[in-house]
Amino acid sequence: MNAMTATFDIDPLTPDETPAVRHLAASLRRWFSPTDLRAIDALLRKTLSGWVAHDHAGNADIVGFLLTAPAPDPCVREVAWMGVDEAWQGRGVGTELLDRATAAAASDGLRELEVSTVAASAGYAPYAATRAFYYARGFVDRRVDRDYYWPGGDRLVLRRLISGQPS
Ligand SMILES: CC(C)(COP(=O)(O)OP(=O)(O)OC[C@H]1O[C@@H](n2cnc3c(N)ncnc32)[C@H](O)[C@@H]1OP(=O)(O)O)[C@@H](O)C(=O)NCCC(=O)NCCS
Repeated sequence: MNAMTATFDIDPLTPDETPAVRHLAASLRRWFSPTDLRAIDALLRKTLSGWVAHDHAGNADIVGFLLTAPAPDPCVREVAWMGVDEAWQGRGVGTELLDRATAAAASDGLRELEVSTVAASAGYAPYAATRAFYYARGFVDRRVDRDYYWPGGDRLVLRRLISGQPS
C-alpha cells in the first residue's frame, strides 16, 4: 500500500487498541521519551478517551492516535498526547484527529482545547514542526513553564477557542 495515495478512517479508541497506541508512541523516538511513554501508559490505564486512525487497507496497526484528558478548568479539554506514524505524517491524519477532538469537545459544551508541547526555547528541533502544526490550526501561546521536561526543556502550553469568548 502506498501511503501517498492511501486514505484513512478515524474511530473512537477502544480498549483492544491500547497496545497499538503504545506501540506507535514507542516508535516515535525523536518525540517521546521513556518518561513520556510511561505517562501515556498511565493515562491509557486510567482513562480511555480519544481517537485512532486506521488506514483504509485494513491493516491491524493504527497510523495515528489522539488521547484526551480533562483539564483542571472544567471548560477546557486537554489534548494529552497525539502521534502519527512517521510514514503518514503530513498527510492530514493529525488534522482529522484534532477535528474529531474539537467536535466532541464542542458537543460536550466545552470552551477551549489545551495542548502542551516542547517550547522553541528548549532548542529541540523535532518539535518545530509540531508547534507549526498547532499554530496552523489556531492554537495560541498561553504560557511557558521553564525546565518542565528536562533542565532547559521548557514546556509551551497552547489553547484554542472552541466556542464563545476566551477567558
Ligand atoms: C504533530 C503531528 C501529530 C501532526 O500530525 P500530521 O498528521 O503529521 O499533521 P497533518 O498532516 O494533519 O498536518 C500537517 C501539518 O503538520 C506539520 N507537520 C508536523 N510534522 C510534519 C511532518 N513530519 N511532515 C509534514 N508536516 C508536518 C506541518 O506544519 C503541516 O502544516 P501544514 O498542513 O499547514 O503545511 C505529527 O506530525 C506527529 O505525530 N509528530 C510527532 C509527535 C508529536 O509531535 N506529537 C505531538 C506531541 S505534543
